[in-house]
Amino acid sequence: MGKTRKVWSGRIEGAVSPLMERFSRSVETDFLMWREDISVNRVWAAELAEIGIYSADELKSVLAGIDKIAGELETGNFEFEPVDEDIHVAIERRLTEIVGDAGARIHTGRSRNDQVVTDSRLYLKGRAKDWQIELVRLQDNLLTMAKDQLGVILPGYTHWQQAQPILLSHYILAIFWGVDRTISRLKDYLHRIDVCPLGSGALAGSAFSVDRERIALKLGFREASQNSIDATGERDFCSELLFAIAAYFTHLSRIAAELQMWNSLEFSFIEFSDAYATGSSMMPQKKNPDAMELIRGKSAAAIAGVNQLLVLQKGLPLTYNRDLQEDKKVTFAQLEEAILATDVFREALSGATFRVDKMQQALEPGLLATDLADYLVQKGVPFRQAHEIIGQIVQRSLQEKCQLTAFTLEKFNEFSEFFEDDVFKKLQFPVSVAQRIVIGGTAEKAVQLQIAQAEDRLKAYQ
Ligand code: ARG
Repeated sequence: MGKTRKVWSGRIEGAVSPLMERFSRSVETDFLMWREDISVNRVWAAELAEIGIYSADELKSVLAGIDKIAGELETGNFEFEPVDEDIHVAIERRLTEIVGDAGARIHTGRSRNDQVVTDSRLYLKGRAKDWQIELVRLQDNLLTMAKDQLGVILPGYTHWQQAQPILLSHYILAIFWGVDRTISRLKDYLHRIDVCPLGSGALAGSAFSVDRERIALKLGFREASQNSIDATGERDFCSELLFAIAAYFTHLSRIAAELQMWNSLEFSFIEFSDAYATGSSMMPQKKNPDAMELIRGKSAAAIAGVNQLLVLQKGLPLTYNRDLQEDKKVTFAQLEEAILATDVFREALSGATFRVDKMQQALEPGLLATDLADYLVQKGVPFRQAHEIIGQIVQRSLQEKCQLTAFTLEKFNEFSEFFEDDVFKKLQFPVSVAQRIVIGGTAEKAVQLQIAQAEDRLKAYQ
């Protein structure tokens, strides 16, 4: 193969337009998986020797050639030619330059269609595992934070209105379990992606009787794929990962949005360190929580990514179509963003200060209205009636600008004779929190159990 000849030149007589050449190149993206392509070439060469395509000597020189190419790629000394439309072609071209005819035999019985999905699966498997490790690190940090903040109470919100008091640790652990779902999704994903398509050929299976199970094993896959049509043409392994990324970013974007509000002057529940904030070019007083805003902003591309992959495949006839070359750019890029966002989020949060004083100041007595209703229930009043009575009390407290905590027993008794002296014990934030002792509740005892569960989960991962 000369430096200007395409791998498919036999059938096509005319020269390809330089514009088309540029349009169809994917090497800028698939370059990222050169290590995987090297591994695939090594295993494939050995397999060709098993079936007599290579003599022992030829195999030796081919493997040495592959090593030399790996060295060139590693050190940045590999010279790409305009003819190298993708990494597979580039490596085969160079191998043929180095070892001659033996290099020209490396593509025996295989197609770029099975090669590209084998490389992609290997690459994504590796990076998805790296992401999982970063997610576990984030969980580890969240758990430490939850333990450190045990006892701190802040207002919990629904509809962005003060609802009920909660423990800060409980809030932090809510993030932990959201991250945990991503980890468990990735675990399932890593099982499904662990299937080797090599040997599927272009679509019908290799005509050379390579041992596909041995190939799978050597490349570190769990098993060989069962259908060559499916294996070469499906991209669930991209869409599925992109869904995990989109769901993760969506989750993170909600937390980012809330923490960003917590960081405002009005809330001041949290202060990010200077390392994760930026100033304004115009307003000297500003310190902006950019890390959170960027996480929220980047979630847009993550959500678009899963859509892009689904739309790319929708209605596409089986098996390989060149459209599918567009799978890698978005999948690889989004995976990198997810890994980066995980690290940024972890560091930004670890370096932030929780303003416990501000959280305490923000606690409004109205947060205890449900506890007052529960109090009446314990005295025998049906909940619906209790709810009505407390609703009227709240109404009065607003009219008279008198906080619930400032009500006298006499005043309570105007609304119900079931109120007694012990009602004042109930009207305290720590008491409200301590009531919620059910599994998954915000009481300190329940949160301690939750921490133990989270610790077990982490141990299983580490
Ligand atoms: N660069 C291509 C891709 O990433 C490789 C497969 C090309 N196959 C083909 N039949 N043209 O999808």
